[in-house]
Amino acid sequence: MKNVISGFSKLTKEQKIEWLCTHYSNNPEETIALLNRYNNSDAEVQKIHDEFIENTLSNYYMPFAVAPNFLIDQEVYAIPMAIEESSVVAAAAKAAKFWLNRGGFKTEVIQTEKVGQIHLNYSGDPLILMDFFETHRKDLLNSTSEITKNMRARGGGILEMKLVDKTAQLKDYFQIHMCFETLDAMGANFINSCLEQVAKTFETLAEQSTQFEPHKPKVIMSILSNYVPNCLVKAEVSCPIEELTENDIDGQEFAENFLTALQIAHAEPYRAVTHNKGIMNGIDAVVIATGNDFRAVEAGVHAYAARKGAYQSLTHAKVEEGNFHFWIELPLALGTVGGLTKLHPLVRLALEILRNPSAKDLMKITAVAGLAQNFAAVKSLVTTGIQKGHMKMHLLNILNGFGATTEEKNKLVAHFKNETVSNAAVQKALEELRK
Ligand code: MEV
Repeated sequence: MKNVISGFSKLTKEQKIEWLCTHYSNNPEETIALLNRYNNSDAEVQKIHDEFIENTLSNYYMPFAVAPNFLIDQEVYAIPMAIEESSVVAAAAKAAKFWLNRGGFKTEVIQTEKVGQIHLNYSGDPLILMDFFETHRKDLLNSTSEITKNMRARGGGILEMKLVDKTAQLKDYFQIHMCFETLDAMGANFINSCLEQVAKTFETLAEQSTQFEPHKPKVIMSILSNYVPNCLVKAEVSCPIEELTENDIDGQEFAENFLTALQIAHAEPYRAVTHNKGIMNGIDAVVIATGNDFRAVEAGVHAYAARKGAYQSLTHAKVEEGNFHFWIELPLALGTVGGLTKLHPLVRLALEILRNPSAKDLMKITAVAGLAQNFAAVKSLVTTGIQKGHMKMHLLNILNGFGATTEEKNKLVAHFKNETVSNAAVQKALEELRK
């Protein structure tokens, strides 16, 4: 077959690029120049990135920024964010400033339990399996003692292990459902190692047992779950309604419209998805900057948003005794040790900027970033509309797209201070300027 190669991963980086250029590039010279340009000139830095994954050809940069002035539980943070969307950091910083003088953000980690499962196929009598499981519960747990030793010494480890009959959902399907406390580690490797060890011991013991003839239980797979509804954090802001009054915004009307916007995000999935997407703008940016797994966080958060059978907002708002309350509650399985935390120099820096937080602290800070982002988005939506601020921030991208020079950019940024930004308007203004 055309363009198929075996042993690609064994080639040197140069050979990989050469192969790529031969088969997939319209302009090999430009491709090589581009890949080299984004390759880090510091060989040590490049080596770190080369070794994160297989077949690295170059680097894919994203802006690394901070949003300052976040008052969280009486401490002021600058929150590191890695994100490409032009308005996100500006919106976070704006929301941080807004709440800085209104009591700041208050947070609480509700629970920190992680989950893993061993999925079994078994067509025999459920009571025999239950009996076998209970008889060997200790053996199964003891077989992980080497893996869990250090975690147990620090106060974590396996919290719970139960056999679940899932045959109502799927024929012959049982599972060993396990809960873990992984402290400052996200815990994926720890959990998967424990699961695989329990599964191995289970299979060995089942093999030796005569109880099951002729129906031996079979381990299908062992893997952590990224659904962590018991690894929950809450962040909130509140202030008297009149303190929401700002320039031409009336506090009372703003609070009413804000609450209605939140009700819509609870009632209407089309809106809820976009509402939560805005929250994830803040969450993902912190998750990525701190070297955590944003795919895991995304999957878990959206499953949580749909836990009641309909996809709903992750944030909530109410007015009580003249006070406006706005809060977020979401699952976040994050780590501040292990993974990329020591390996990626910018991740190390991000954690240093956050004063080397525990995983619980990082859960709080990340939830705050999500809440702030949502506040900024909904505030814009129910007042000026989103495009005003968004397009202002996007102006430089548009100008860069039209190849504007630095001088042209400076002039047009000034010009658009009081004008509506759109692609067409920027193009027209640039043409005028160039005449
Ligand atoms: C854009 O990235 C995010 C928003 O659409 C979020 C929202 O609508 O709430 C502005």
